[in-house]
Amino acid sequence: MALLRKKIISANWKMNITASEVSPYLTAFLEEIKGINEVDVILIPSFTSLPKTSELLSSLQGIRLGAQNISSHDKGAFTGEISAVMLRDLFVHHVLIGHSERRHLFGETNTIIHEKMKISHLNQMNPILCVGETLEERRSGKEKQVIEHQLREAFSGLSVNQITHTMIAYEPVWAIGTGQTASVEQAQEAHFFIRSLIEELSDASVSQKIRLLYGGSVTPENSEELLSAPDIDGALVGSASLDPRSFAKIVVQAQRNCTKE
Ligand code: 13P
Repeated sequence: MALLRKKIISANWKMNITASEVSPYLTAFLEEIKGINEVDVILIPSFTSLPKTSELLSSLQGIRLGAQNISSHDKGAFTGEISAVMLRDLFVHHVLIGHSERRHLFGETNTIIHEKMKISHLNQMNPILCVGETLEERRSGKEKQVIEHQLREAFSGLSVNQITHTMIAYEPVWAIGTGQTASVEQAQEAHFFIRSLIEELSDASVSQKIRLLYGGSVTPENSEELLSAPDIDGALVGSASLDPRSFAKIVVQAQRNCTKE
């Protein structure tokens, strides 16, 4: 019997939404998602907006907080870095690791990403590991090879329990911020491939439990179709999450999708 995985809709605000914009955002967002209880929502603000978001979410059940990055070091002389302990202090439960903007604009290698995976798990933070190919890699038919390499490096040496407490976001680089979403078939194929690889790296029960998110130009117009694919358990939303009403629509659709199943 297929295991029912709870849907997750996550907002990656990237370098948008200041601390003083958080409160009006949440007021509008919470109004729109009243009665939604079958979807996990994760908000991922910038570091400077994390304390305010954490404070405002503290009394709310069901909405979790994530960070966009984490230091691969424990503590010490690392100017400008933010440690796992600092994030936990703000009740941050999730952290994006290996987002393509970190990989491609800030030179994060698979080795750094692996270190960040280890430190997150050591501090009981659940990572959302991002993987995905560039347009060039897809055009040359290498997308699975790239995803496999990214996954194997990130998960190397991690325990089955740590793999279970990780989410994976498939974000094809060519679909991020471009308005060009992957087709449902392309996204489903990649997700199915990732799930099969997780089975190989852990076991069948973990691969059925682990939640896989799709990211790349997700909007209220295309989220319903994407979320209906069997291996797509959620969405990681960039631009469309900056408007609380449009992000709320995606959450509401995800709940509708759950109740249909
Ligand atoms: P967009 O939704 O703006 O394409 O961004 C996706 C993304 O990078 C989420 O992490």
